[in-house]
Amino acid sequence: MKKVCIIGISGKLGQYMLQHALDRGYEVNGVCRPESVGKLGKWKGKVTLFPGRTDDREVIARAVKGCDGVLTVLVPWGVQGYSTKTAEAVLDLAEPGARLVFSCGWHITRDGKDRYSLKLRLLLATFGPIARLFRFADISDQVRACGRIFASDRDWTVVRGSDLEEGPSEGLPVWAEHVGDPILESNRTRRIDFALFMVNALTDDEVLRKSPAIVSRQAPSAQAESAKPVAG
Ligand SMILES: NC(=O)c1ccc[n+]([C@@H]2O[C@H](COP(=O)([O-])OP(=O)(O)OC[C@H]3O[C@@H](n4cnc5c(N)ncnc54)[C@H](OP(=O)(O)O)[C@@H]3O)[C@@H](O)[C@H]2O)c1
Repeated sequence: MKKVCIIGISGKLGQYMLQHALDRGYEVNGVCRPESVGKLGKWKGKVTLFPGRTDDREVIARAVKGCDGVLTVLVPWGVQGYSTKTAEAVLDLAEPGARLVFSCGWHITRDGKDRYSLKLRLLLATFGPIARLFRFADISDQVRACGRIFASDRDWTVVRGSDLEEGPSEGLPVWAEHVGDPILESNRTRRIDFALFMVNALTDDEVLRKSPAIVSRQAPSAQAESAKPVAG
């Protein structure tokens, strides 16, 4: 991996991914809304920016050119299919053979085998319709975006984040194939480590064409699972 593109680079997750990518010695391109370029002042000269909306295919085509990895922050803002159009642009325009890593939340399910807590189900059942009613977000757009990715024959990974918190790194998160796995019970990850998992996924074949649901390796549920004796 030599050169990566970060789509949505000016957000909190994007900025952490930028720093992790630079720490690994990658050359970095980034796409963010023009009004957000100023948020990246501290990295001036270390990143090549392509200001524009992340669903603008012309911008994405220029930004991903020559990149062997693309990290995309999928966000459900607005009701115009922003997330879906962003995912389609990356899937269609990234270099052949590029590793494509996308972020989303636990609410995305690939095979319907995830088991959700009552709290998360209630949250989705209330937040989803309210957000759409007031036209500021459309969670089903993020669901459709991930559907496109899961159906693609590109080299993708969809990283599903737990509830997030700020703070110093606790190391590379652990993961499970399905929400409901006891290892995920604590439902918390430092945002800096979500970003670390995303960047690490670029070169980790274990998560190729998978949708890992992640949790901090220092969360009680992860610690309890690692302390269990290995069967056999
Ligand atoms: N927040 C959580 O608790 C949580 C939990 C699990 C998973 N996740 C996932 O983590 C990822 C990052 O989420 P985050 O909450 O940490 O946010 P974030 O990294 O701050 O990212 C927000 C992104 O949305 C963009 N954005 C904000 N308002 C917008 C608008 N009106 N139109 C278009 N773009 C807009 C931001 O761009 P600008 O810099 O231009 O504003 C930024 O790129 C997402 O994929 C999310 O699904 C989040």
